[in-house]
Amino acid sequence: MARILLTLCFLSCNVFLRSFATSDDFLQCLSQTIPSELVYQQSSSSFMSVLQSSVQNPKYLTNTTVRPLCIVTASGIPHVQAAVRCGRAHGVRLRVRSGGHDYEGLSYRSVQPEVFAVLDLSRVRAVDVRPFEATAWVDAGATLGELYYAIGTASPRLAFPGGACPTVGVSGYLSGGGIGLMMRRFGIGADNVIDARIVNAGGELIDSVASMDQDLFWAIRGGGGESFGVVVAWRLRLSMVEETVTVVNLQRTLDEGAAAIVAKWETLILQPYVPDLTIRVVVQDNHAFFQTLFLGRCSRLLRTMRAYFPELGMTPADCREMTWLRAMAFIGLNGDANAPPEALLNRTNNLGTYVKNKSDYVRRAIGRAGWEGIFREHLSRYGPGLMIMEPHGGAVPNFATPYPHRQGVLYNIQYVVFWGGEADGTAAAAASGWLGGIYGYMEQFVTSNPREAFANYRDLEIGANVVGGDGVTTYESGRVWGEKYFMGNFRRLAAVKGRVDPGDYFRNEQSIPPLRQGF
Ligand SMILES: Cc1cc2nc3c(=O)[nH]c(=O)nc-3n(C[C@H](O)[C@H](O)[C@H](O)COP(=O)(O)OP(=O)(O)OC[C@H]3O[C@@H](n4cnc5c(N)ncnc54)[C@H](O)[C@@H]3O)c2cc1C
Ligand SMILES: *[C@@H]1O[C@H](CO)[C@@H](O)[C@H](O)[C@H]1NC(C)=O
Ligand SMILES: *[C@@H]1O[C@H](CO)[C@@H](O)[C@H](O)[C@H]1NC(C)=O
Ligand SMILES: *[C@@H]1O[C@H](CO)[C@@H](O)[C@H](O)[C@H]1NC(C)=O
Repeated sequence: MARILLTLCFLSCNVFLRSFATSDDFLQCLSQTIPSELVYQQSSSSFMSVLQSSVQNPKYLTNTTVRPLCIVTASGIPHVQAAVRCGRAHGVRLRVRSGGHDYEGLSYRSVQPEVFAVLDLSRVRAVDVRPFEATAWVDAGATLGELYYAIGTASPRLAFPGGACPTVGVSGYLSGGGIGLMMRRFGIGADNVIDARIVNAGGELIDSVASMDQDLFWAIRGGGGESFGVVVAWRLRLSMVEETVTVVNLQRTLDEGAAAIVAKWETLILQPYVPDLTIRVVVQDNHAFFQTLFLGRCSRLLRTMRAYFPELGMTPADCREMTWLRAMAFIGLNGDANAPPEALLNRTNNLGTYVKNKSDYVRRAIGRAGWEGIFREHLSRYGPGLMIMEPHGGAVPNFATPYPHRQGVLYNIQYVVFWGGEADGTAAAAASGWLGGIYGYMEQFVTSNPREAFANYRDLEIGANVVGGDGVTTYESGRVWGEKYFMGNFRRLAAVKGRVDPGDYFRNEQSIPPLRQGF
């Protein structure tokens, strides 16, 4: 009986909240704390340029995209708190945006018609490196490139295990785990978060891990963005690296044995244990590209390669030795050896072609015959499609944040397909046909039950939330996609959500649903 009454109250309270949702009251509320020049309404002449400023995928800038009521470009924590409080009070949800690279655009668009505001954190982006403690506080809106630049200019021996692309936001990156070329040595990005500041669903600032629910601190380190609150700053443990590291880019064609070389590469990931060496593989058309980062000098890399991977045929002439910071610029700017470290600070987005990605994990080597089939049946039949493979192993299994793809994972696959013309034209149909075809074909090689997927490579085709009659996302709808991203950690994430945001204020199409007590 008590529960029925509670549920009834819950229902009516939510209906009450929504029926009184008015945009004007929300905007009025914001104006009490936030200067009007930081709030861009649709009527503002700058609205589209601000909306577009960090968007990576032009698919979500068409005239059918559901756009925000306004964009709040917060310049400090009080603005974040005001946005949450006003949003709560007037029934307007927030989409939090840091680097704007979300693959489905969920940080700035809604799939269904909905009144919402974008809370853009790109102005909040200071980085404070403490070289003597090997830590850094980084504000939520900084990019990976800004973080790398601040670290590398503070000390040539410090580094952070981040991703390759410098314009990715640290907050989305860490919220989804964050994989990269140094995780085999130091763990994924989220494994190296040691403190955080977060604004919760009540608009209160929790300003350190000491005053934070320990499960909440666990959840924000890889349990997905948007779900638990607005992270406003992260404290990171930095890694010690050699003053000189080595990068190598090599390409082999099928005629040069690409399939066999990729098959050999698979067998090296878990054994022998060489965590200083990461070779990321990109396969496209009839080529394989081997992008190597070695945390040491060329001479040691070549000894390692001769002992374990002579098939790749790496020579001294292939090596480029440089500082870690320069290596990040080299890798981030597509192998441009002249890229100055300052290029890492460039936040200008490149609204290029349309793109759709999907992901998989491999725990059993595919082998030479398997790779020959993938090249023959799929890659060499469609030029614009490619696969990027990031080796795991090394230190990846040593940590326990929500990223679940650890012990026994050989590598992660990202399928990428680009197309031009129109968002939904014939080129789009060809691209999506190819992507569906290879994703289906790969089923025989990749993980199953669940077919694991990477949260940072968000893909709404694997499932999306359903909101129940009580106005709250259903746990069952979240399980469909959530167990692919988080496996056994999904339920614990939902339980944390149930404690910190039971009313499901912070949500999007793939946010963690609240698992409430008694269910
Ligand atoms: C070119 C490119 C290269 C990439 N390379 C890698 C890679 O090497 N490794 C890897 O792991 N990933 C990589 N990614 C994926 C990337 O990590 C994710 O897309 C990530 O979510 C982007 O973070 P963002 O801050 O830029 O995105 P946003 O679009 O701003 O945010 C992503 C999600 O996090 C939420 N969010 C953002 N800020 C906050 C906050 N402060 N508090 C709470 N929630 C927040 C958003 O609401 C949204 O749901 C790459 C993406 C691109 C486009
Ligand atoms: C949207 O844009 C397309 C072309 O880009 C145009 O044909 C269509 O009329 C537009 N629709 C609306 C509602 O403006
Ligand atoms: C897909 O991956 C490619 C390569 O990493 C990246 O450039 C692109 O931005 C990603 N897709 C989306 C939708 O962002
Ligand atoms: C910054 O990046 C953009 C997009 O990639 C590029 O067009 C521009 O030239 C870059 N600016 C500088 C100063 O390098």
